[in-house]
Amino acid sequence: MDVKTDVLIIGSGIASLQAARLLGQHFQVQIVTKSSVQMSSSYRAQGGIAVVTSPDDHTNLHIADTLAAGEYHHEHRYVESLVKEGKVMMQQFLAEGLPIDRQENGEPALGLEGAHSHHRILHAGGDSTGQILIDYLLQHLPSTIQINCNEMAFELLVNTNGACIGVVTKSEKGIKRYFAHHIILASGGAGALYPSTSNYPTSTGDGIALAYRVGAAISDMEFMQFHPSLLWCQAQAKGLVSEAVRGAGGTFVNAKRQPLMAGVHPLRDLAPRHITAHTLYRQRAAGQETFIDITSIQHFENKFPTITKLCIENGIDLQNGLIPVAPGSHFLMGGVIADDRGRTSIPNLYAVGEVACTGVHGANRLASNSLLEGITFGQKMAQFILKIGCNQTNFTLAVAKRQQTMPALLSKEQLQQSMMHSVGIVRNPDDMQRFIAQLPPLQNLLQVNVMDLPQQQLELYMMHIVASLMVHAALTRTETRGAHIRSDLPNNETAWAQSWVIFQQGQMKVRNSLYEYHQTRRNAQTIF
Ligand code: SIN
Repeated sequence: MDVKTDVLIIGSGIASLQAARLLGQHFQVQIVTKSSVQMSSSYRAQGGIAVVTSPDDHTNLHIADTLAAGEYHHEHRYVESLVKEGKVMMQQFLAEGLPIDRQENGEPALGLEGAHSHHRILHAGGDSTGQILIDYLLQHLPSTIQINCNEMAFELLVNTNGACIGVVTKSEKGIKRYFAHHIILASGGAGALYPSTSNYPTSTGDGIALAYRVGAAISDMEFMQFHPSLLWCQAQAKGLVSEAVRGAGGTFVNAKRQPLMAGVHPLRDLAPRHITAHTLYRQRAAGQETFIDITSIQHFENKFPTITKLCIENGIDLQNGLIPVAPGSHFLMGGVIADDRGRTSIPNLYAVGEVACTGVHGANRLASNSLLEGITFGQKMAQFILKIGCNQTNFTLAVAKRQQTMPALLSKEQLQQSMMHSVGIVRNPDDMQRFIAQLPPLQNLLQVNVMDLPQQQLELYMMHIVASLMVHAALTRTETRGAHIRSDLPNNETAWAQSWVIFQQGQMKVRNSLYEYHQTRRNAQTIF
């Protein structure tokens, strides 16, 4: 079945809905999502939205915190956009009536999270910020927008000029081809490539694999952020215990209630995530159990209803004041290179939110900057598309040349275990090389004709592409920066400052800017 629309969005998190809200007022918009609107990382977000609202705070301080957390591996001008334009957009949301938590005097109740110098986290429903924000956007979505659930996008369509003109999806009902003037990837991250994650199992990095297959430039794939506190029950991660719990006074302890962060970092339990995650990782590797002690937090159940429910569902008794936690994958800083309007290196293909790499998060995202990213860049992208309009005239498909059959793949469990072992919190070149040897070469993966594969196989195939990009990037960056630790090279290396590992058209290179500018083109901002 073929469907024609103006704008097609893949994914249904905050960046998707924020863009759709505006685009749907003027254009036909279709959203395709692999599962449901309730199964995105945005919907699950507990902590909140980092934004400067207090007179004691300043956007320059928010920028400085973002740069320090990400170890200065940023696209500076976009960090400024995020913080300054994001502030204006959030003010609009508040003026419109977004129901955030407020103090008795009516001022926003501001939370504190890791690596923030000030209380600046807006939250809603205590720890249900993502859910309330998504429900709010859904209520404000133009009624003409169609959301197609349980459809997996598995192939982007490109015309004879190399522009993206559509996508092919698969569902229980069969195959659909969508044709559109603008195709937006808003499909989220790749936390589910690891066995323990705060993400839904559907976060398998599909958008990155789709874009890579059509030759889009991808970067920063070595930077996966690990959250230090996933609820840990029966040797499994069961969801997130927000950093806001530590912002409210919770502390990391061992089974004897001895503090774990004292003397490790001046910010102790609110140190940047790579420090807290690494500390817990080391404790657990040495056989210690790890907990958050919540005894100092009054009215925990009222402040953190989502976490309370999660604990009750998993049989955790909050009365003893200890929540068992362990680190796990949380947020991918890398992805499809995009500018602040979502433009990628493929004409008419956009990327926004976690699937995109705009350089705003550097090598380690500052807590609660991701909902702000979705809001800010979702709106900027929509404004740009509205300005340029829908004027694609060439819907003639380029001839697909992929003919290879699928090489042998690892099972999903093998892949996830290998990712944690070799591309986890602590990495070494030998393990990474051994993992690469187990994976089919990227060149072979690229040539596979995926049209007839069943959905599960498609997902596993995409996971292999993303895993391969991640391990190659991680091996190539011979230093420690941001979210993970290279055990053989534990420091920042000057030679690697301002260097990006880029994948494009089946090649990998290192260059000294995230974007490549073609000054001869009419638009010097064009990126390749
Ligand atoms: C958290 O609530 O701890 C997660 C917030 C974030 O990752 O931005």
